Amino acid sequence: MKKKMKTIPVKSVKENYKIVIGRGLLAGCGRLVSGIFQPGARIMVVSQAKIDNYARRAAASLEEKGFKIFFHRLPDGERAKSGHELLKLLHTLLSKGFERKDGIVAVGGGVVSDLSGFAASVYLRGIRYVNIATTLLAQVDSSIGGKTGINLSEGKNLMGAFYPPALVISDIDLLRSLPPRELRASLAEAVKYGVIRDAGLFAFLEENTGKILRKDPAALERIVTASAGIKAGVVSRDEFETRGERIILNYGHTFGHGIENASKYKKIVHGEAVAIGMAMAAHLAVEVGICSPRLALRQLALLKRLELPVAVDALEIRTASILRAMMQDKKKSKGRLRFVLPERIGKVTVKTGIPAGEIRNILRLFGSK
Ligand SMILES: NC(=O)c1ccc[n+]([C@@H]2O[C@H](COP(=O)([O-])OP(=O)(O)OC[C@H]3O[C@@H](n4cnc5c(N)ncnc54)[C@H](O)[C@@H]3O)[C@@H](O)[C@H]2O)c1
Ligand SMILES: [Zn+2]
Repeated sequence: MKKKMKTIPVKSVKENYKIVIGRGLLAGCGRLVSGIFQPGARIMVVSQAKIDNYARRAAASLEEKGFKIFFHRLPDGERAKSGHELLKLLHTLLSKGFERKDGIVAVGGGVVSDLSGFAASVYLRGIRYVNIATTLLAQVDSSIGGKTGINLSEGKNLMGAFYPPALVISDIDLLRSLPPRELRASLAEAVKYGVIRDAGLFAFLEENTGKILRKDPAALERIVTASAGIKAGVVSRDEFETRGERIILNYGHTFGHGIENASKYKKIVHGEAVAIGMAMAAHLAVEVGICSPRLALRQLALLKRLELPVAVDALEIRTASILRAMMQDKKKSKGRLRFVLPERIGKVTVKTGIPAGEIRNILRLFGSK
């Protein structure tokens, strides 16, 4: 049976690529990938224990198309994004005789694709790779845009490269096995896309909360398609974050990164920190007169309905630690914090020069100590 799928183009100075979104794509991924690598090429399928069944199914389809398949497994979590794991993958590629024409198929979430993409960027000065995105976060965000990299002991994502995939495959059916907390956290990023660019998506999230939390495939497909479309458009126009547009993807992330960092990445996952960050950013926007209190309340209500946290009380973190972490964040420009703030649902603006006192007040209001 021919499956219906949607295709979103992404522009890159390296090579343009496509995101394909649909249901039941994994079993036929060999056909999609066959345009990317030469017939008979070696493919390293990089994945993790928890999603081994998806890696195997992808491999079976790739094998059917005549590719020579190898497997590489990464550990779970952020520790997979390390220099040690990077070198291990590079050594495996070498030992299996991988050449320039060969490639990597990353089957997994952001961790798998960040590490695989970075390995692809440096192996023999660059081989091609494909992302098969298995988490909602990966499908709406991390698989797109070519940011690859690893963590250093000093912080997250401090070493990396802009190195776009040759293809992204987002099979909605794979989201069925996602743990509920991962699903909800990723929905924070979907809310972000709604606020920055798409009032229709925001309203869809409001009107379909029940279906979404029950993982209704049609609802998830609508969300992935809209979100991936926005990210694809933004990174196509501002691939290297030099033109000022890509920064809007950072909505909720200035506060969010500060919260994650101050809580030492324990008790809270990224999307949850972004949810709190967006609640704070909207409040800040009201305080500085950029948006109406109605917008902030509407966003707050949606985040709560999606069962996301909107305050930091439970984390017991100090205001000063969050502020310090925010100041260290690599996205600050010329030592000043930049905030992406909503004007209305679907439109944001970038603001600098907000006094530290104002930020401190917001943090306290949202429950920091
Ligand atoms: N490159 C980018 O632009 C970008 C953007 C955002 C985030 N990131 C990075 O992405 C990472 C987070 O990615 P993530 O949220 O996808 O987490 P993740 O990759 O760690 O995956 C979360 C967990 O879910 C498991 N899993 C994956 N797919 C599953 C499925 N379908 N069913 C059941 N379990 C599944 C994984 O094995 C893992 O244990 C972070 O390291 C972050 O820095 C990168
Ligand atoms: Zn994010």
